[in-house]
Amino acid sequence: MDQALRAQVAGDVAMVEDRLRAVFAGQPPRGELYPAMEYSLLAGGKRLRPVLTLETCRMCGGEPEAALPLACAVEMVHTYSLIHDDLPAMDDDDLRRGKPTNHKVYGEATAILAGDGLLTAAFGQIAGAETLTADQRLAAVSALSEAAGPQGMVGGQILDMEGERRALSLAETEELQRLKTGALIACAARLGCIAARADGERMAAVEGYAQRLGLAFQIRDDILDVTATAQVLGKPIGSDRASGKTTFVTLLGLERCQQWVERLSREACQTLEPYQDSGLLRALAEELARREF
Ligand code: IPE
Ligand code: IPE
Ligand code: MG
Ligand code: MG
Ligand code: MG
Repeated sequence: MDQALRAQVAGDVAMVEDRLRAVFAGQPPRGELYPAMEYSLLAGGKRLRPVLTLETCRMCGGEPEAALPLACAVEMVHTYSLIHDDLPAMDDDDLRRGKPTNHKVYGEATAILAGDGLLTAAFGQIAGAETLTADQRLAAVSALSEAAGPQGMVGGQILDMEGERRALSLAETEELQRLKTGALIACAARLGCIAARADGERMAAVEGYAQRLGLAFQIRDDILDVTATAQVLGKPIGSDRASGKTTFVTLLGLERCQQWVERLSREACQTLEPYQDSGLLRALAEELARREF
């Protein structure tokens, strides 16, 4: 990714983080609830999903600022999903975004509630989005609810847990990933289209891009669980193997997984090639195929 595009991504991330810092500021205290929510929300992370929202909005001719409340909402849902994913009853992990996991610091009850708080407040962000019309807000609520719920991320997480108890087929694993990771990534891109009032053709192209990106992203995540170091990754490695999960790596091996990631990334780029102003999204897909964290 060239310098100008990198600076643009950094600008997006700064815009998102500024707003995330403000979301819960000034609320009456609720014990450790807000500190626990902000502990995970403001811990960094790549901010891939909100960047996708802002940049798909830009590519479709909208102002990224208009999509900012939606970008923050999707990051809040993502952060909630990570807090719950790390709980002892789920992946039982101790490190996230380079810090002890939420339940390690605040205890399980508060971590569960911090996740609940982020999830519900995310929809409040959309409902109150002053940059958008009522019909745009409704479309966004509907898209996020579908992507995060039982037909999306939560549905994928239950299949993922099932994958600890029995070996899943490749088709089942693809379905699982499409729900647990792909749905929210595709939704992030769709939210940008909604904010920009993109036409159907552009929306379909963005959708095709985001679906491939989402699949590549999870395959790469499964690879990094085996090949990375916890220090660079900011989360434990070997977590999938320790819980005996079926992953793309257990099914296909590292080499075929990486070939698949690269093919998906190329296809994602091709989907957007006809469109002006898609340079950043294409560079992002290329970079994510080789990401180390
Ligand atoms: C981790 O997501 C969970 C997956 C869906 C693979 P990210 O890798 O985007 O995590 P952060 O937001 O950068 O911490
Ligand atoms: C989690 O997938 C996806 C979510 C919905 C949170 P993983 O369990 O593989 O994510 P990591 O590796 O813990 O980040
Ligand atoms: Mg998990
Ligand atoms: Mg996990
Ligand atoms: Mg993982």
